Amino acid sequence: MALLNIKDLHVNVAGKEIIRGIDLEIEEGRTAVIFGPNGSGKSTLMGAIAGLPGYDVTKGLIEYKGHDIKQLSTDDRARLGIGLSYQYPPAVKGVRLRTLLESMTSDREIIPEYADMLNLSGYLDRDINVGFSGGERKRSEVLQLMVQTPDLMLLDEPESGVDIENISIIANALKSLLEKEKPITKRTRSALIITHTGFILDYLRADVAHVIMNGRVLGCGSPSEIFEEIRLNGYSKCSNCFAEQFKENNIC
Ligand SMILES: Nc1ncnc2c1ncn2[C@@H]1O[C@H](COP(=O)(O)OP(=O)(O)OP(=O)(O)O)[C@@H](O)[C@H]1O
Ligand SMILES: [Mg+2]
Repeated sequence: MALLNIKDLHVNVAGKEIIRGIDLEIEEGRTAVIFGPNGSGKSTLMGAIAGLPGYDVTKGLIEYKGHDIKQLSTDDRARLGIGLSYQYPPAVKGVRLRTLLESMTSDREIIPEYADMLNLSGYLDRDINVGFSGGERKRSEVLQLMVQTPDLMLLDEPESGVDIENISIIANALKSLLEKEKPITKRTRSALIITHTGFILDYLRADVAHVIMNGRVLGCGSPSEIFEEIRLNGYSKCSNCFAEQFKENNIC
């Protein structure tokens, strides 16, 4: 079953149409990656799926677990299992990271354990992201996802600004969340990952890649083949890089 089914989605930001008719499906247990140039609408798409304020869905369907969630608030979507890791995580003065994490789970014992896994043990009693370095903010985002354990993870450039050792720490945390140790048919959680560098894909296998340009999906195919094509020839020539078998096998 498709965990997420987006049909003909149009989204305005500040009165301007940024997403201009996107169709996208993610099956249960799959990891999909999104490539696209700066300003193509990738973060806007994630914001619209998470229901963040300022993203005005003017047309189309966002179906999650078989229900249209367009009218639901962000917190209701989070309760249904949608988790977002921000490209630019905001700082929240006056709220400790521990307090936020405790509001997400009834099992408080996992908090120090997961914080230790992400090298964030000393950060739990600091205000959320206040004074955190870029890489620390990204680890804090992943820690929040680990505690929330969402069924659909929206990861907006999880490795940008993260040093090489911490990329593998983040990737290992995501791998365990996505149950990568199980056969694909037994996995239930899914992810949509935006990446420019592709570094995260060295550690975490994605099943399919979609390319977004100018608010539309150009096509989909093998993550490694598409990434290689973009690396060599840029986005403009990527119309040659889509594999038909992905469409035929209903993976896109
Ligand atoms: N509040 C806003 N007001 C005006 N324009 C906006 C606003 N938010 C986003 N946009 C515009 O929407 C477009 C898409 O932005 P978005 O953040 O989705 O791009 P992106 O694909 O995530 O890019 P990047 O790779 O740089 O993160 C950009 O041109 C951006 O300037
Ligand atoms: Mg972005």
